[in-house]
Amino acid sequence: MAFRSGQHFVQIPGPTNIPERVLRAMDRQIVDHRGPDFARLTLEVLPAMRELVRTERSHVVIYPSSGTGAWEAAMVNLFSPGDAVLLAETGWFSTLWGELAGKLGIAVELARGDWRTGADPDAIGERLAADRAHRIKAVMVVHNETSTGVASRIADVRKAIERANHPALLLVDTVSSLASMDYRHDEWGVDVMVTGSQKGLMLPPGIGFNVVSPKALEASKNAKLPRAYFDWAPIVAANAAGFFPYTPPTNLMFGLREALQMLLREEGLDAVFARHARHGEATRAAVRGWGLEILARDAREYSNTLTAIIVPEGVDSDKVRATILERFDMSLGVGLGKLKGRVFRIGHLGSFNDLMLAGTLCGVQMGLRLSGVDIGDGVGAALDFLCAPAERSQLTPAFA
Ligand SMILES: Cc1ncc(COP(=O)(O)O)c(C=O)c1O
Repeated sequence: MAFRSGQHFVQIPGPTNIPERVLRAMDRQIVDHRGPDFARLTLEVLPAMRELVRTERSHVVIYPSSGTGAWEAAMVNLFSPGDAVLLAETGWFSTLWGELAGKLGIAVELARGDWRTGADPDAIGERLAADRAHRIKAVMVVHNETSTGVASRIADVRKAIERANHPALLLVDTVSSLASMDYRHDEWGVDVMVTGSQKGLMLPPGIGFNVVSPKALEASKNAKLPRAYFDWAPIVAANAAGFFPYTPPTNLMFGLREALQMLLREEGLDAVFARHARHGEATRAAVRGWGLEILARDAREYSNTLTAIIVPEGVDSDKVRATILERFDMSLGVGLGKLKGRVFRIGHLGSFNDLMLAGTLCGVQMGLRLSGVDIGDGVGAALDFLCAPAERSQLTPAFA
């Protein structure tokens, strides 16, 4: 690899930058995961995770896995072969989740989408109302579609399920929204939430989470898909004393404790969400200043953790990204699936501040110019936004 001076910018929408103190917290000798010190750590981390996801009643299950493992865990615990689910097609990651479910023998019905808008609560409600026999066992939604920068309105999806008077469970993926954008597990009536360690939690990849409501735990008792390693029941039982039926990701859990301390006790969740909202808005100001188009169509659905930007006809977004990597040592997110070559994605999540955002946007602006794209001064627009007194900052109203 060629020598590079200075810091590499990882502005993909996760994995994200890891704060030094989280790295330090993990930089330690191994501990006995069946000993009392580790049990104390578990019994500290699990309630803090519950606080983070705003649940009083649900259980947080920790797997040594990536987010994909946590997707599979939710499926095998809840369903029987041939069970029907309704999946909101919001982009690449919702598609992958559906494919995984299909491979496990679940009948996946898509609530079709255009990859520029979020889950449509009305369409979901209508489909459920027509399902008089209650064949559909669950509605599955990716809260923040990492491939498009579109966030779905989970509270509205839950209301639509209620209006249809349908017993379907609600499954939500928060892999790229948790600990960055508002998420309310109990209030929104989510039955299983799936997430991972490597984005808002500012950790390396390696922990997958399920947050399981009592209703979902009950449903899992009758589910017939084969399950072994991912089975919730023995994990929930062992967790009561601070242990696991397998070797847990011990060092990552020390990092998790540190990250939760920062998020919950020092910055505070509301400030974390406001920081991400502000950086999301500044990034969108830059895109408008460049004269380019944000992929997300509806301002109510803007993601505050990443922005996907459409490049003009005739421009290959992969070439722009390659130029930026080569010239400025910055990685940006690729266009996934049918968006390949058409968009690039700027990640503005995790451990991030104004100057990191300004540097990121400068790199994008220079890269676009070097690629021959005719653009305006987006960086200037973003800096104006960041310098505006807080009361004049026009933040897109947060939605629940
Ligand atoms: C929304 C979403 N869901 C699921 C996944 C899959 O997680 P993993 O790559 O950790 O297996 C990702 C990965 O980026 C994601 O963004």
